[in-house]
Amino acid sequence: MNLKLISCSFVFVTAMAVQAQHVMDVQTKKVGAEVSPTMYGLFFEDINYAADGGLYAELVKNRSFEFPNPFTGWDISGKVTLKNDGPFEKNPHYVRMAPSGHSDKHTMIENHGFFGMGIKAGEEYRFSVWARVPDGGKSKLWIDLVDNATMRDDQKLGNTSVEVSGKEWKKYTAIIKPNRTFAKAHLRVWGDSKVTTDVEHVSLFPVKTFKGRENGMREDLAQALADVHPGVFRFPGGCIVEGTDLATRYQWKNTVGPVENRPLNENRWHYTFTNRYFPDYFQTYGLGFFEFFQLCEDIKAEPLPVLSVGLSCQFQNRRESDHVAMDALQPYIDDCLDLIEFANGPVDSKWGKLRADMGHPEPFNMKYIGIGNEQWDTPYFERLKPFVTAVRAKYPNIKIVGTSGPDSEGKMFEKGWEAMKAQKADLVDEHFYRPENFFLGTADGKKRYGNCGALRYDSYDRKGPKVFAGEYACHGAGKKWNHYETSLYEAAFMTGIERNADIVEMATYAPLFAHVEGWQWRPDMIWYDNMRMFKSVSYYVQQMYAMYKGTNVLKLTTKDPADAKGKKQIPVAGQDGMDGLFASSVFDKTTGEVIIKIVNTSKKAQAVCVNLLDMKGERTAETITLQHKGSMDDENTLDQPLKIRPVDGTVQCGVTGKKQQTVLNDVVPAMSFRLYRIKK
Ligand code: AHR
Repeated sequence: MNLKLISCSFVFVTAMAVQAQHVMDVQTKKVGAEVSPTMYGLFFEDINYAADGGLYAELVKNRSFEFPNPFTGWDISGKVTLKNDGPFEKNPHYVRMAPSGHSDKHTMIENHGFFGMGIKAGEEYRFSVWARVPDGGKSKLWIDLVDNATMRDDQKLGNTSVEVSGKEWKKYTAIIKPNRTFAKAHLRVWGDSKVTTDVEHVSLFPVKTFKGRENGMREDLAQALADVHPGVFRFPGGCIVEGTDLATRYQWKNTVGPVENRPLNENRWHYTFTNRYFPDYFQTYGLGFFEFFQLCEDIKAEPLPVLSVGLSCQFQNRRESDHVAMDALQPYIDDCLDLIEFANGPVDSKWGKLRADMGHPEPFNMKYIGIGNEQWDTPYFERLKPFVTAVRAKYPNIKIVGTSGPDSEGKMFEKGWEAMKAQKADLVDEHFYRPENFFLGTADGKKRYGNCGALRYDSYDRKGPKVFAGEYACHGAGKKWNHYETSLYEAAFMTGIERNADIVEMATYAPLFAHVEGWQWRPDMIWYDNMRMFKSVSYYVQQMYAMYKGTNVLKLTTKDPADAKGKKQIPVAGQDGMDGLFASSVFDKTTGEVIIKIVNTSKKAQAVCVNLLDMKGERTAETITLQHKGSMDDENTLDQPLKIRPVDGTVQCGVTGKKQQTVLNDVVPAMSFRLYRIKK
């Protein structure tokens, strides 16, 4: 059969089990709504050891001895005492290491890191410490990276030392180059046998961080973010924005300025799930708002910070008295206005100056601000109002992102949307962690979930705020997390996001990061231990959409199988008669490419014939296919990080009719996601 001359009226049958051909039309000439450059992005929450112990490259846990148990993460021996009149007002604790009276009785402190410290042979690590000799004179600190787990002859993997002098607190640094790779190293600091030394903010970073920054990010993890090509980056959460209670909410002002003086905060994820209890999980804020903005700049994503609206987590705090009283809200509103000044203000403004002092005189050019995470009902609506008034008055160009709460449908959700419309929020942040039938929009799902599946946004009011799908993931009913099948259903759902780019301005997937030894929440996009990482299948789905989001929607339709006259055209969104197919299309003005995404969620290969209307001649379509021939329950792992990943290919497009219109014939494999790029 000559593919080049095949027309769409054909029924395509091969030796394989293939369904009857599905014919689709793409209007390649009439470009539709613009796809927002922010459309596909990332959501960062400090959950699953995403910041400390994850993206933030610091290897020492409890470096300032500020945890409620000040020696959490440390072994101590010899004369070590805790003091609390240190050089950093907001982190006043430090340790005094005094000689024990015998030269062999070493005074030592040893840090365990986060599930150990992952170190690599030949790489450089920067040790730093604030220290002084309280009695004056000089002392020496020896610093060893050790393996005290595998019982070798010599525990030392690498070592260095620093000489401390004088009564004044000073910062000392030294480089260690370990001779062996080890995932569970400890950092041992031991003191002079004759002189007392005070020690504070004990830190160890790989020299090689993302962009080489001293207070930087783990290179492999940050690079994985950049590789998504995200349009927007939402931070710092999630529920941690709200806190378990008001005292533990995320306060951005505590996260800027010198790292040594950023106060510790409790991380609610250390105790939220009693079956995943991590009592050593805190927030040092070493990765703070300045670093978040800088990361956004590095990965070319629009920053979207989210702030507390004065409500602590409403799930846990139901009484009005648990929240900030209306007449006490001003400091929260000020936090919001000050953040905009920090990000965008001139260097002679109070907060703009701090940004400049931290090394970034140019504004970060922030355009969006989220106010409240999963908040609902009157307590939220009435608190949001004064924020909106204040931001509109001072910063009319900033887009305000409100929320419709934690539900994807139902009374509270509707009420939330109504309130956001009334308050003229620019975007509404919707969250949905839902099972397969929600993502596929199948009959079952419709009963329970109302507006679901890839048709969800077709019926949204075009006159109100735009949609921000701020957190979503397919929570498989059989408890599947990042399994191939659920990720594929997310891809199917996203065709509906793409088709509705006129109303959906951005979408960010479930939390970004999870440490395999310390997670609380699944699914997540990127998993890691101390040495390695892997990208989930959902990561690849997000990446395929983000890299090929195009600039404008193209209408992609098929004949409605329910229309006897065969005239009605409908979107391909997995509805009856589509054999599990979902499809959408965009045009990219910058590359001149028509991009088509087809997701086949059925267990059979599907023959498709796509008429590229107003396009002429034969073409080669570049393809990217996400397909897995093993179990649908498979997922990537640390040991098999590339088990499931997209694969490049090509498909020849033929022509049909006198006008030689381009036509794409293909067989989309069972349970696969295929993306086509065709130069116009
Ligand atoms: O991402 C985990 C949690 O899920 C977030 O903190 C919250 O916003 C959502 O409920």
